[in-house]
Amino acid sequence: MTKVIAMAGKGGTGKTTTSALLTRYLLKKKETPFLLVDADANANLNELLGLDVDLTLGQIRKELKGELPPNVTRDQFMEMKIHQALIEESGFDLLVMGQPDGPGCYCAANQYLAMTMGKLAENYKYIIVDNEAGMEHLSRMNMRTIDYLLVTSDPSARGILTAKRISDITEPLGLEIKKQYLLVNRAPHPIPPALQEKIDAAVADSGMELGGIIPSSDVLINQELSGESYIDLDDSADIIQTINDMFDRIFS
Ligand SMILES: Nc1ncnc2c1ncn2[C@@H]1O[C@H](COP(=O)(O)OP(=O)(O)OP(=O)(O)O)[C@@H](O)[C@H]1O
Ligand SMILES: [Mg+2]
Repeated sequence: MTKVIAMAGKGGTGKTTTSALLTRYLLKKKETPFLLVDADANANLNELLGLDVDLTLGQIRKELKGELPPNVTRDQFMEMKIHQALIEESGFDLLVMGQPDGPGCYCAANQYLAMTMGKLAENYKYIIVDNEAGMEHLSRMNMRTIDYLLVTSDPSARGILTAKRISDITEPLGLEIKKQYLLVNRAPHPIPPALQEKIDAAVADSGMELGGIIPSSDVLINQELSGESYIDLDDSADIIQTINDMFDRIFS
């Protein structure tokens, strides 16, 4: 069975960074093949992985509204286009959602999309969804069941509270979430006791377990600045060991 891992969290707290580091982790562990879905309208996961994007699902949805080539059904067209949009790498594929529907959604297109995505999903061991801030997207994507929700937070009292709110809102949205983890990112070392208290309180009072505390890291900042792929980060770096231990704990 394909397992879905989805990111959530306030803007700029590390969802895309976590997705890129998880990509690296799953490749090293040979937990392949997996599908990365960049569900951020302002796609940028590809940049952290050094990949170029030519075609997004948003563009396909637009094409589907127009005239199709003769003798092709909408299903066939959709399937063909999605395969064209898949960026195929060794061990994983990347699919970029792109811009969502504007007003006047052509809902049939979304249905075809959901159907094709459902079929596509079966090919993978994991599907990793990098979201934009906000939870609407997750409920829109027709992924009713999420095996692992990773909620990132900055290391502040309000940040932790926001993460808890995000976790709380999953239930009314009708998402079935099997496991959820709080990741406190860019944390100072050592963690100030007052922050630790907030973290403990949020975890005690929500469906989240503490997934890990990720320190602020120059290695990550420099890798992004250099434009090199996060997949090529070296195992010997402290930050990578911390991240690998964290994912070991979460996915063991
Ligand atoms: N542990 C870390 N140490 C240092 N820099 C980090 C760390 N985590 C993330 N960053 C940096 O913080 C910025 C925001 O991270 P990222 O893009 O992963 O957040 P996001 O949650 O995906 O943001 P958005 O909501 O805009 O999609 C990036 O420039 C990233 O390099
Ligand atoms: Mg992001």
